[in-house]
Amino acid sequence: MSAFKIKTKNLILRHLRESDLLGIYELDSDPLVHKYLGNKPIKTKEEALESIKSNILQHKERGIARWAAIEKSSGEFIGWSGLRLNNDLTFNNQTNFYDVGYRFIPRFWGKGYATESSIVAMDYFFTTMKKELLIGVAEIDNIASNKVLGKIGLQFKEEFKIDDVKANWYELKKDEYAKRMS
Ligand SMILES: CC(C)(COP(=O)(O)OP(=O)(O)OC[C@H]1O[C@@H](n2cnc3c(N)ncnc32)[C@H](O)[C@@H]1OP(=O)(O)O)[C@@H](O)C(=O)NCCC(=O)NCCS
Repeated sequence: MSAFKIKTKNLILRHLRESDLLGIYELDSDPLVHKYLGNKPIKTKEEALESIKSNILQHKERGIARWAAIEKSSGEFIGWSGLRLNNDLTFNNQTNFYDVGYRFIPRFWGKGYATESSIVAMDYFFTTMKKELLIGVAEIDNIASNKVLGKIGLQFKEEFKIDDVKANWYELKKDEYAKRMS
């Protein structure tokens, strides 16, 4: 079992585990959560387990995957946040890009947790992983997600389409990040 753990003000970020099954099921079976994610919530716990297994495999094969987020005050699993190496899909004609993302159970929305966890993920990306370019993607109608990407300092680059849905593409380069930190 990995001992990886990052503590933020209100959250603990750690690797996903198969024991997160009920949390992932609650998260991904909720139509509200999937409103701007293609509207395809899962229906079974087997699908939730598949998704956890896929995340664990990503960690092993790609060295990074989204992290489970635990609320410190309650100890509850709230969803996930963090980084993904997208070498298995093409968005905006790009493959092989890292993006920052987040997905929480709705009762934990509106507490600043996406912003808080994404700032830590961004720091980890540039200072620990020492990568060059961080991407953010959000459907244009997903106001909360667009706000988070803007708040953490990703720069809007262009609009593109995921299937028929309009989405925004954001970028942050290492140099820009470093300039901001100095
Ligand atoms: C996107 C998501 C992770 C945001 O999580 P969160 O912890 O509530 O986000 P934060 O609290 O850090 O920030 C959200 C910001 O959006 C704002 N916001 C949210 N809904 C809004 C709305 N309908 N109109 C205007 N602003 C809105 C909040 O006020 C906040 O901004 P503020 O800090 O300036 O007040 C959460 O809504 C979620 O899990 N959605 C479902 C999955 C998803 O869409 N993931 C992103 C895919 S790109």
